[in-house]
Amino acid sequence: MSVAARWEKQGDIGIITVDSPPVNALSAPVRQGIFDGVKALDADPEVKAIVLICDGRTFIAGADITEFGKPPKGPDLRSVQETMENASKPIVAAIHGTALGGGLETALAAHYRVAVPSAKVGLPEVKLGLLPGAGGTQRLPRLIGPERALKVIVDGNPIPAPEAKDLDILDAIIDGDLKQGAIAFAQDLVAKGAPARRVRDIPIDASSLPANFFADFRKGLAKMRGFPAPEKIVQCIEAAVALPFDEGMRIEREGITELMASTESKAMRYMFFAEREVAKIPDVPKDIALRPINTAAVLGAGTMGGGIAMNFANAGIPVTVIEATQEALDRGLGIIEKNYRNTQAKGRLTAEEVDKRLGLITGSLSYDDIAGVDIVIEAIFENMEVKKEVFRKLDAILKPGAILASNTSYLDLNEIADVTKRPEDVIGLHFFSPANVMRLLEIVRGAKTAKDVLATCMALAKTIGKIGVVAGVCHGFIGNRMLSRYSAEANKMLLEGATPHQIDTVLYNFGMPMGPFQMTDLAGLDVGARARSEFPDLFPIDPAFPVFADILVAQGRYGQKTKAGFYKYGDDRKAQPDPDVEAIIAAESEKRGVERRVISDEEIIERCIYAAINEGARELEEGIALRPCDIDIIWINGYGFPSYRGGPMFYADTIGVDKVHAAVEKYRQKYGERGWKYSSLLEKLARAGKGFADWKDVV
Ligand code: 3HC
Ligand code: NAI
Repeated sequence: MSVAARWEKQGDIGIITVDSPPVNALSAPVRQGIFDGVKALDADPEVKAIVLICDGRTFIAGADITEFGKPPKGPDLRSVQETMENASKPIVAAIHGTALGGGLETALAAHYRVAVPSAKVGLPEVKLGLLPGAGGTQRLPRLIGPERALKVIVDGNPIPAPEAKDLDILDAIIDGDLKQGAIAFAQDLVAKGAPARRVRDIPIDASSLPANFFADFRKGLAKMRGFPAPEKIVQCIEAAVALPFDEGMRIEREGITELMASTESKAMRYMFFAEREVAKIPDVPKDIALRPINTAAVLGAGTMGGGIAMNFANAGIPVTVIEATQEALDRGLGIIEKNYRNTQAKGRLTAEEVDKRLGLITGSLSYDDIAGVDIVIEAIFENMEVKKEVFRKLDAILKPGAILASNTSYLDLNEIADVTKRPEDVIGLHFFSPANVMRLLEIVRGAKTAKDVLATCMALAKTIGKIGVVAGVCHGFIGNRMLSRYSAEANKMLLEGATPHQIDTVLYNFGMPMGPFQMTDLAGLDVGARARSEFPDLFPIDPAFPVFADILVAQGRYGQKTKAGFYKYGDDRKAQPDPDVEAIIAAESEKRGVERRVISDEEIIERCIYAAINEGARELEEGIALRPCDIDIIWINGYGFPSYRGGPMFYADTIGVDKVHAAVEKYRQKYGERGWKYSSLLEKLARAGKGFADWKDVV
């Protein structure tokens, strides 16, 4: 027997049990075990039906992603499936936890499927830049019809068992013990003389498909630009409809082979592991005792505070919102209610759910009301003196052990922590706007932050549906520090000859959701201008370059809200290039004696993206970021960097760090150390011919 699967008999039912923690992924030993188990039990004359079940927390969660790209070992999954499908006795897959990807595909090669009510099934390969490569694109349409199958596979989201039963993916829901229920189901099949029903033999009725079904579906894929998998999935379902099963399987195989080798899929597989890696903090023990978080408070009900409070209410944690005035409190709570009611109007929450969440949010003007809470998150004005005053006040009233967090974007957390008598309880929790929507939470570890406070906040991130990434203290932490370089170069290129539209188009085509100038128009040019004028120390300006946003603000162009910023806007809020802006920019170039030149698309990518990568390398050197994957997760989840490029540091590896380094050097020669600061890590990697994946080898 394989170490990963065993088989036994209970009466006339054979049982194959997969046991390969943590998630029973289809590694070579698991495939071998199922293969051998089916062969043995099928050949045993006493056995009349077979149950395939898993030990541990879940049914098979998919192919073993760590095996991808390595030479195959043992029987491949398709041979295992053929052995199952061709067995003479009915095989019942018994599902708990999640049957995902190759896991569900294995179940589809069984003749029947049963599951506990809490189980979920799905084909999430698209999220790894792949398509289901073990018959999922051919068997699922036969089982549930091509229309529904296409949607399920392109969405990639897990489907709860009751819904999967309604869809006919499952034959029965088992209440109570799964193993006993599955055995009873198998015995019933035997009693009825039910056949070993092969999904591959189910015919597809193509006449039921709406006219132009595939063409219309493809139109909807436009929003998934840059991702090659969805189109390939459509091709496979087309094949399932038009061609015999084996032909369809051939097309599926071609599709997955091509996708598996693509940079996009490599990037997305890297992201899968990166998301899990960032949760690990090397010097914090995994089993460290966490502080309980049963109640929370948020200071400030402005843009950020309201969204932060909603996160707690959504997770069922009561939260008190403190404001400076009744008017601000009423306004803030009003916006929270409006947001919830909008979600309700869209049918994503019921009225009862909204009422329950609103019931968890209490407004107050008095700090005395929060003396007993487990955590406070300060989200008031970005001003050091104001924040220090508030932290002194919190220190005086909060119970011992409470966590004091700041949502500051740029300020020195250590300076804030040091005004308290408990700097070990102080931490940065940097949410992204809109805070109730954006998945990223940058968790800023101060010089004195206690390990259990850090671990508690990482766990809290998960509780409130965020992905927490640890950052060290510096101006802008990991994400905004790199963004400053990205935006500064975009601004400089305007003076030298580019237009906002040109730069935005190049970066949009690179895969960013929008370019930096459209982004600024959306956020409001006045917001940055005010911050620069109020806190010149926080936002140092290179005197050799004008800040175009400030020039536009002086002319009343605040962005979308005034229908004019770097672009002009009609009632449809669509950004249109504005000749007036181009004239303002050209006049500035002339005033400063800068001869405008043609700026190439390549230069735009280099100056924006490579500048950010260089800054990321410096953050690694300084220990601000723990690993390249922390930076990548931040840029994908906080700034919309395309996931199919795997984040800026992974992207650097795909194009070659030596190439990035050469370009960075070129710009340092031209513009000097002020903008293009030296990174010894970038240089060492380039010289060693290595990438960020191997950065530890050179530090
Ligand atoms: N292969 C290898 N390792 C896997 C894995 C897989 N398919 N799925 C999970 N793991 C590992 C994780 O990396 C993690 O390792 P770590 O503890 O060392 O960090 C460990 O298993 C536990 O995973 P999670 O932390 O994610 O555990 P959760 O309980 O939160 O979630 C899960 C469990 C829902 C199963 C989640 O792990 C998941 O979504 N897994 C991936 C599912 C998937 O994408 N399957 C499709 C694979 S592609 C495929 O099947 C191709 C086929 O068509 C041929
Ligand atoms: P905001 O101006 O929208 O809201 C701040 C609120 O704090 C105001 O409603 C104000 O009345 C209230 N306030 C001021 N002093 C207070 C006090 N002593 N006690 C209670 N409430 C008080 O500001 P915003 O944008 O929400 O920013 C808050 C913090 O979050 C800042 O530190 C900012 O840097 C940070 N941040 C902002 C992001 C954004 O996109 N707006 C993104 C990430 C962080």
